[in-house]
Amino acid sequence: MKFFIDTANLDEIKQASEWGILSGVTTNPSLYAKIGGKLADFEDHMVKICHIVGEDVPVSAESTATTTEEMVAEGERLAALAPNIVVKLPVCEASLPATHALAQKGIRVNMTLVFSAPQALLAARAGARYISPFVGRFDDIGDDGLTQLETVVNAVKNFDYGYWEQEGGPEIITASVRTPNHVTQAALMGADIATVPFAALKKCVHHPLTDRGLELFEADWEKVKAQA
Ligand code: E4P
Repeated sequence: MKFFIDTANLDEIKQASEWGILSGVTTNPSLYAKIGGKLADFEDHMVKICHIVGEDVPVSAESTATTTEEMVAEGERLAALAPNIVVKLPVCEASLPATHALAQKGIRVNMTLVFSAPQALLAARAGARYISPFVGRFDDIGDDGLTQLETVVNAVKNFDYGYWEQEGGPEIITASVRTPNHVTQAALMGADIATVPFAALKKCVHHPLTDRGLELFEADWEKVKAQA
């Protein structure tokens, strides 16, 4: 499974990129607002992210458009910013034809806010390069986000869609990830990607037994040094 980072914070993107584990970046309006982002600077910020990660690493930039025509126009403009820009559109009646039109032009769409298998299947059929089912937001309302994710993964992987096959698409991005267990379960289900906030990504690096092992390791080295 590939790791994307779910953030608009340039320092976090740089650090994850330096770890050598980063296969993509996703952002959304809340994440952009969190770093004090302004709409007027949005495109420049996306370009900065693209430069940090390099042109082989996809960067999802969310559109603010609400009609099909606006989504296509904005999608074309965003895609022209850098070769690794992926246009992020929320699944809805307006975005399906926009996704189809953009796919016909070779522009990749990440269809987001996916909460059901039918939505995911429609996204794949319309030509989405990536499909983002959400896990944590189901958990927030007392549902089981991982079971919902499994349904989406199994349904989508049953079929071929005639789009993006040479690139291995459409790929499923496990989104709204909150914990290392979300990452584990997504991998076991065969989700292609998990997009993980930096704090949760750091939690994935750690384990209490690893941290304890490191403490013992240091203590033992101190003993060895003292004996020398
Ligand atoms: C990513 O593409 C999604 O926008 C993101 O994972 C949503 O996460 P949240 O539910 O924590 O806002």
